[in-house]
Amino acid sequence: MKKAIVLCAGRGTRLRPLTFTTAKHLIPIANKPILFYSLESIARAGIEEVGIVVNPFNKEEFRKIIGNGESFGLKITYIVQEEPKGLAHAVLVSKGFLGDDDFLMYLGDNLILEDLSKFLRDFEQSDYAASILLSPVKDPTRFGVAVMDGDRVLKVVEKPKVPPSNLAIVGLYLFRNKIFEGIENIKPSWRGELEITDAIEYLIEKGEKVKGYIIYGWWKDTGKPDDLLEANRKILMQINEEILGSVDEKSDIQGTVMIGKATRIVNSVIRGPVVVGENCFIKDTYIGPYTSVGNNVILEDCELENSIVMDDCSIIGIEKRVDSSILGKGVSVRSSKKRPTSLNLILGDMSRVEF
Ligand code: G1P
Repeated sequence: MKKAIVLCAGRGTRLRPLTFTTAKHLIPIANKPILFYSLESIARAGIEEVGIVVNPFNKEEFRKIIGNGESFGLKITYIVQEEPKGLAHAVLVSKGFLGDDDFLMYLGDNLILEDLSKFLRDFEQSDYAASILLSPVKDPTRFGVAVMDGDRVLKVVEKPKVPPSNLAIVGLYLFRNKIFEGIENIKPSWRGELEITDAIEYLIEKGEKVKGYIIYGWWKDTGKPDDLLEANRKILMQINEEILGSVDEKSDIQGTVMIGKATRIVNSVIRGPVVVGENCFIKDTYIGPYTSVGNNVILEDCELENSIVMDDCSIIGIEKRVDSSILGKGVSVRSSKKRPTSLNLILGDMSRVEF
């Protein structure tokens, strides 16, 4: 199998305000955009050509950050899905790129740590029309759900009110071009979308074989802020220590910590796993476990834990610990000693502040 499509046209409404300026698939987890993890894993599995399905508004951002895919060892094409009409519709608009070839479909907001090679190899050697990744979950009503017999899928249903099993469809699918027949024969769902789950169900009902491949490892659909923090924790647990910047003798670095070039750490405690980007200035500060700090960030006289702080932010003179927080690019949080004491807030649309 040589081709994949990665679906990145979703608008990310549950991650506003972050997604007003950044596609959700490009939000950094451990200082690397979510999508990079899937592109790397697709390349490792031997895929050569990838079509990234984008929307008309985020297309340029993807082009700028990912380019032609050379740095991943991939040939990348951008495919525009003009309207958010569902996953099956995204496959339809990719028809020109896919031709009649078998292909892998990856939902760009999913983070799947599984090695994909065996999944692909098994499919290539089989006569199945499709193969889907499944994972047991606590709340199947949020997902597509599958009923299995051995490794064969007997039924799939999208977001069932009464789930027939606890096996959620993970955002990774392998298809033969028969899937187009399924897509051409389905109608939009209650949410007005052409569901890929319905297209798969159509094939099953016609007697085609669909394989289910259950994974027990960690995966995440990063649709909500808490999911981003969880994904960040998970990835940070796998980092290796690397200190490129300078750390003065009054500072204490504990556990696994990565510090980028030209970053200066002064009189601070950093307790890993933590990643700090390049060109940051960190003074009189505590950075606790599971925190990612981007490039060009200033942290002074503050405490930070279990958080994601993106590029060009500053947090200065905050008494309370900043915990479980996500700061988009260029955010400034500082205290003012001015009287009368007050909160002085300039917050963009849909910002969230909790005291
Ligand atoms: C989509 C699919 C669903 C799948 C999920 C995985 O849901 O429709 O079947 O289980 O991705 O992330 P959506 O994210 O569009 O709600």
